[in-house]
Amino acid sequence: MQVLHTVEELRAWSRGLRCSEEGLIGLVPTMGALHEGHASLVRAAALQCPGRVAVSIFVNPTQFGPSEDFSRYPRTFAADCEMAEREGATVIFAPSVEEMYPAGAATIVDVEGLSERLDGKSRPGHFRGVATVVAKLFIAAEPDLAFFGQKDAAQVAVLRKLVADLRLGTKLVVCPIVREPDGLAMSSRNVYLSPEERKQALVLSRAIKRVEQLTREGERRSDAVIDAARRVLAEEPAVRVDYVELVDWETLLPATTAGPGALFAVAAWVGNTRLIDNAVLA
Ligand code: PAJ
Repeated sequence: MQVLHTVEELRAWSRGLRCSEEGLIGLVPTMGALHEGHASLVRAAALQCPGRVAVSIFVNPTQFGPSEDFSRYPRTFAADCEMAEREGATVIFAPSVEEMYPAGAATIVDVEGLSERLDGKSRPGHFRGVATVVAKLFIAAEPDLAFFGQKDAAQVAVLRKLVADLRLGTKLVVCPIVREPDGLAMSSRNVYLSPEERKQALVLSRAIKRVEQLTREGERRSDAVIDAARRVLAEEPAVRVDYVELVDWETLLPATTAGPGALFAVAAWVGNTRLIDNAVLA
């Protein structure tokens, strides 16, 4: 499998395909440390865009805050390439920081409003970094389809708005959250958890399950749903809640009722690791 390192190489790959054959071009943006959640995106891309799937692996410095884990973020490039190839990737795009952010680069993409909600509230600047790097990837690869996980539901809302506002030709495909057998949402950051924290972390998916159950039974009051989730989260006093919110998935503003399509989202610190989880209500 080919590994591309420059934006020009990625552009040439995409344009070459577009000139030579019919078919959709797929992009799966990642920061590497690939797990089954990422694998599910690559598989979905390979199904819809066989032979035309680029997986980008780039730990994007601009989406990390100054006290966050950029330098210690897990980097497992060789294993990532193997997994991506196994799941049907055609090329890997692995640029350097200088390639994505040439010296003196001053252009940023900021989806105002949305970027300050949910994770954006506790991680100022995070979604500006995400929107900027994803815009660069979309402009370079011009994918027909780009695959993202519902796991990062606020990120999806921000990127949907980015695509709509900039009138980009890329359609976002959102794939379900892949979980460990015990319910924990898969995340590259799970490797940071000690065995004790790994057990405590299960409280997030338990809170999500509780909310899904309550709303299935007909509970529609936003406060009741949030309170129920908070009670579950309180079962692990060591877990520090960042937010528990019920929002409209498009605007990320509070939803008045826990109706179908509303996004229930949780973020919490387990030790020094910030984890997120969510459910889109039925
Ligand atoms: P990263 O955290 O590597 O995630 C890459 C993609 O995998 C995202 O779309 C994310 O939602 C998806 N993903 C992660 N865990 C998942 C799970 N358990 N189930 C399903 N999908 C999952 O998200 C980023 O990177 C970056 O912000 C990026 C978009 C690449 C921009 O730098």
